[in-house]
Amino acid sequence: MECAVEPEGLFGQANRRYGQLRASSGTEIGPFPLGVAGDESAQLSYGRLRRRVLWRMPSGLYLLGSRAGERRNMMTLNWAMQVCKEPKLVAVSVESDAFTCELVQQAGAFAVSILERSQSPVVRKFVKPAEYADGKLNGFAVFEAQSGCPVLESAVAYLDCHVRHSLVLGSHTLFVGEIVNAGELSSPDSPVLRMEDTKMSYGG
Ligand SMILES: Cc1cc2nc3c(=O)[nH]c(=O)nc-3n(C[C@H](O)[C@H](O)[C@H](O)COP(=O)(O)O)c2cc1C
Repeated sequence: MECAVEPEGLFGQANRRYGQLRASSGTEIGPFPLGVAGDESAQLSYGRLRRRVLWRMPSGLYLLGSRAGERRNMMTLNWAMQVCKEPKLVAVSVESDAFTCELVQQAGAFAVSILERSQSPVVRKFVKPAEYADGKLNGFAVFEAQSGCPVLESAVAYLDCHVRHSLVLGSHTLFVGEIVNAGELSSPDSPVLRMEDTKMSYGG
């Protein structure tokens, strides 16, 4: 189910809309660069290059917990980052047809579990809707953050967030959440899991 969130846009009227980008010659640019538009094989090889470049962007690897009523989920996610210092805002980008998207939209909250470097086998278990039983999601013990969203008990730290803004981008919906609670569950020195610690990739 696609989430319909704030169709007016992220920051309401203040949000500027940009028109078509043009080269100095007046030619329209994008989504393909000049010289590639109109040439199918050039587009294919440019598409591969663009994906390689996107995959070179470093990122963390997290579990995103969500909950609406008795429905809970956690999903593997690498598109997460702090995006504002005051207020303290964190953005996550979630597939618009994912179960998580529906839950975050309904409850207006999410929790980011930050994992220990050795936990890449755990993220492999959260790439489709998770099953909840006996306080566990897919067999992994979780606890409830103050928002009610699940956090992995064995995570090194977590951020509990209240959604302040959302925007349907296309395939993904961007949620910007204010941190309402943060917790450290292990020593601050514990190394955290990053995409580069795995053979996985996403997006591109
Ligand atoms: C390494 C990796 C990173 C991922 N990163 C994201 C992400 O940043 N955003 C996203 O929406 N899905 C991401 N996914 C896909 C979701 O984990 C997967 O589609 C998800 O479980 C579907 O969500 P659902 O369980 O809420 O239906 C990633 C998957 C993998 C394997």
